[in-house]
Amino acid sequence: MKKNRLKTFASDNNSGVSPEIFEAIKSVNVGHQIAYGDDDYSAKAKKTFQDFFESKVDVQFVFNGTGANIVSLQNMCHSFHGVLCSNLSHINVDECGAPEKIAGVKLIPLVHDQGKITPQQILGEVHAIGFEHHVQPKVISITQATELGTVYTFDEIKALSDIAKQYDMFLHIDGARFSNALVKTGMSAHEMFVKTGADILSFGGTKNGLMMGEAIVFAKHADFRFKKYIRKQSSQLFSKMRYIAAQFDYFLSSDMWTKNATNSNNMADYLAQKLTDISGVSIKYRVESNAVFVNIPKAWNQILWDLGFFYYVWDELDNTVRFMCSFDTTTDDVDEFVSEIEKLASSS
Ligand SMILES: Cc1ncc(COP(=O)(O)O)c(C=O)c1O
Repeated sequence: MKKNRLKTFASDNNSGVSPEIFEAIKSVNVGHQIAYGDDDYSAKAKKTFQDFFESKVDVQFVFNGTGANIVSLQNMCHSFHGVLCSNLSHINVDECGAPEKIAGVKLIPLVHDQGKITPQQILGEVHAIGFEHHVQPKVISITQATELGTVYTFDEIKALSDIAKQYDMFLHIDGARFSNALVKTGMSAHEMFVKTGADILSFGGTKNGLMMGEAIVFAKHADFRFKKYIRKQSSQLFSKMRYIAAQFDYFLSSDMWTKNATNSNNMADYLAQKLTDISGVSIKYRVESNAVFVNIPKAWNQILWDLGFFYYVWDELDNTVRFMCSFDTTTDDVDEFVSEIEKLASSS
C-alpha cells in the first residue's frame, strides 16, 4: 500500500487503536489472574455487557469477527442445518469458507436488497421441513450495519425474528459494526438485540477502536449449553482473556463506543455529500453508517488503488468501490481525499 498517506479509506480495519484502549489494557496488567476468562476483569466486563444490554445476556470473548460468527453458527446448527444469509454477507463472501469448513453448515445465500434480506425471502426457503433429503434451514443471519453500510430498522429485525421463531429457527446478527447501527438509529442495545428477540450477536470492537477481540452475546432466553466447548474447539479461547475483556469493559462503560461510531458515521455522511457533485461519481447505496459505495470510472481504479483508497471492486459491471470511514477519520482527511478525486474528474 502506498506510501505517502497516513490515512486511507479502504477499511475501518486500517485505522490504529484508540489511545484510551492502551490505558484500559495497562490498567489490568497487574499481578496474576486466573487464565481463560475466569478472572475478575472478565467477570466485570460481562457485567458491563449485561448493563449495556439491560438483560442477563451471556458473553464470550473471541479473537476476531470471523471467529465470532463461526462459533455463533456452531452453537445454533448441526451439520444438516442451513443458514439463510444475504449473498453479500461477510459469512458468505469474506470468511474464505470458514463457516462451511469449521461450522460445517450450508450457507443459503439470498439476493440482497441494499444489503438486506427480507421475511418474504425467508418464507420462500422454509420448505421441505422434516424432509430428510433436504438441508434444514435453522438460522437467519443478518448483518447490522450491513456490509453495504445500510441499517435494518427495528421492525425489519423483529419481522425476521418472528419468522425465525415461527419456524423453530434462530436469528443471528453479525454486528461487526453494531455500534454504528445503534448510533444511526438511536436505538439502545436492548431494543436492537433483546426486544427484537434475536438469539446471538457477534458484537464488534475492532472496527471501532479496539486493538483486538470481538464478543459473542447470547440472549438470556436461549440455552446454548455447549458454548464453552465450541469456542475452545474453534481455537477461539484466549488464555489471557483479561486483555480483551478490559477493552470491552472500557468501550461500553465509557462514551467510547458512541463517540467513535458517531465520528465514523458522520465522516461517511460528509464524504458522501462532497462526492455527490463530482462528475463521474455516483453514490450507489444509502449512506447509513460508515461506508460509502460509489460507482466511478474504471480508469480511476489503479490510481486510487495506488493511493491506498480501496481494496477491490465490489461489482465489476458498474465498477462499484467502497470507501470506509474510521473512528479517527477527520474532515481534513476527507477533504484531501476528495481533492484527489476532483483532480481525476477534471482530467477525465
Ligand atoms: C460484516 C463483517 N463481519 C465480520 C467481520 C470480521 O472479520 P475479521 O475476522 O476480519 O475480524 C468483518 C470485517 O471486515 C465484517 O465487515
